[in-house]
Amino acid sequence: MATALCPGSFDPVTNGHIDIIERTAKYFDRVIVAVIRNPQKTTPLFDLDERKNLLREVLGHLPNIEIDFFKGLLVEFARDKGADAIVKGLRAVSDFDYELQMAQMNQRLSGIDTFFLTTSPRWSYLSSSLVREVAKFGGDVSSMVPDLVHQRLKERFHDEAVARETGGS
Ligand code: PNS
Repeated sequence: MATALCPGSFDPVTNGHIDIIERTAKYFDRVIVAVIRNPQKTTPLFDLDERKNLLREVLGHLPNIEIDFFKGLLVEFARDKGADAIVKGLRAVSDFDYELQMAQMNQRLSGIDTFFLTTSPRWSYLSSSLVREVAKFGGDVSSMVPDLVHQRLKERFHDEAVARETGGS
């Protein structure tokens, strides 16, 4: 039984992630969507449980998916889970340098290969960080994320605006 690991911050999950995970699920018997506990880039907008719950909801139609989380090295988690491969999406040439470096490092550390799927051109401009930024300033991201994520983004930024107005945070 071949197991793939789709790792990421998923802060929040976008239609681009879903595209890659759905396609991975066609090729592998079991797909573990591995949410990093503490993304290095920024403090996450959604905490780990929220990110996991959103993934669980929006990927519920796929029978061979598990949602899990990890901290530390991805390859240690991959080994613990018996994963055969890491699968990632490549949006553009700009992703390539860093992804290549990580794939080679992970291969060297563990022998686990990384497979890349080209992102659908429909979603090649999309990233979680841009979705967060656009949503924060009231832009319409409804076509870029699942409805549930869109709702959560609206609630989150509404709550933050209320907190600012009332001096909460
Ligand atoms: O969604 P992201 O933020 O682009 O995901 C990046 C992620 C989590 C896949 C990457 O940062 C990662 O694998 N982090 C785990 C730490 C690790 O193993 N670092 C060495 C990579 S060679």
